Amino acid sequence: MSQKIRGVKGTRDVLPIDTYVKDDDPWLRVGHYHLVEQATRDLFPLYGYREARTPILERTELFVRSIGEVTDIVGKEMYTFDDRGESVTLRPEGTASLVRAYVEHNVSQQEPETRWWYLGPMFRRERQQRGRYRQFTQIGIEAFGSPGPRIDAEQIELLDRWLRGLGIPFEMHLNTLGDAACRPRYREALQAYLRSRSAELCEDCKKRVENNPIRVLDCKNPSCQEVAAGAPRMDQFLCDPCKAHFAGVQDSLGRLGVRFTVDAKLVRGLDYYARTTYEAIATSGLGAQSTVAGGGRYDGLVKELGGPDVPGIGFAAGVERMALLLAQKGKESATHPLVFIAPLGDAEAARADELAQQLRAAGLSAEVSFRKANPGNQLKRADALGARFALVLGDAELKAGRAKLKELKSGAQHEVSLASFAEEVKKLTESLR
Ligand code: HAM
Repeated sequence: MSQKIRGVKGTRDVLPIDTYVKDDDPWLRVGHYHLVEQATRDLFPLYGYREARTPILERTELFVRSIGEVTDIVGKEMYTFDDRGESVTLRPEGTASLVRAYVEHNVSQQEPETRWWYLGPMFRRERQQRGRYRQFTQIGIEAFGSPGPRIDAEQIELLDRWLRGLGIPFEMHLNTLGDAACRPRYREALQAYLRSRSAELCEDCKKRVENNPIRVLDCKNPSCQEVAAGAPRMDQFLCDPCKAHFAGVQDSLGRLGVRFTVDAKLVRGLDYYARTTYEAIATSGLGAQSTVAGGGRYDGLVKELGGPDVPGIGFAAGVERMALLLAQKGKESATHPLVFIAPLGDAEAARADELAQQLRAAGLSAEVSFRKANPGNQLKRADALGARFALVLGDAELKAGRAKLKELKSGAQHEVSLASFAEEVKKLTESLR
């Protein structure tokens, strides 16, 4: 036998049945992903979001200029390679790509407000652990053209409704990072404080003090957390417009009945944010990687990427993390065949193929057994597939033109005519519903 080729570290296969899979999260199945995706397609359009799809591959410069050169993502996590003289990167997130598309297609000239949602794989070379992968899936939204605080609250309410509808336990955290008018003063004050306590910080944070001091606030290292606890707070430095915006977001959330906690340590890992930031944090079931979704306002980004001065705000959620939580609750959307047809001989096999074709033409799902086995084993296979009905087709059934359709859960038998099989199955499923 030739040597096996294994998947790349940090990537994972998501298969229909978990017994195929042997890794640290064996029970994540494609049905968990479908449940999240279906909830997205049902809910997001109700808020006016329309789906956009952008490429996985982008010019490296896009992420350097948007996410920021000194962030962990750009500094050490991107999959970047030279494509015959041009540096390209597998996208580590969706916002930068959507902003690029928004600018490239002059969308602001066609509509004053734009709302897009997206779903797809993202790539970051992070240390693999439960809920953290090198290829992962994000579902996100971005809204362009709305400067006021009501859209911030509406997005947070959407995220709240979406997660709640799926039964995911979480808390909503909210913060403001100020803007170009007030953040620089805060940054200076924070830097001065952190420099004075630099000896107590981890090696990474010692560097962050100089190039990205705000990130020290969300370092997980206990000694850094202790230093962060005594640090100056952004809310002491907010300018009046930022104060009014933050108050407006909180008022709107109150009116919409969304519960949240103001969390001064919520600083996010990407540089493009201004003012509102928010995160949905799982209250149990995810361990260290407990942030299910995160986002915020990025008012200067469209301009920074060559577009007009249009404000933006959005969030993205990690589908694997949501799927892990659903798997723990035993929730999954499954697609089982409605009818499993097991022909016993060659003549019956030809008839089975026709019956399956008629069922599918009527919009009903059918699976034909292509293996020779006795009726008992065929029924076992139907059961394992989760089929609702099984039809064992032998010579006697073919001659009589009638057969017994077995309902697998109850064991009930329903006599049906083969000549009008699809219609009878349809009527039966409707009457038994
Ligand atoms: P982010 O916080 O970097 O934000 O990622 C959003 C979510 O993606 C996280 O909360 C997490 O659920 C998931 N995620 C991130 N990295 C990984 C990973 N290595 N493995 C598994 N899941 C992961 C953004 O990406 C922003 N673009 C969000 C945004 C949209 N801001 C404004 N608009």
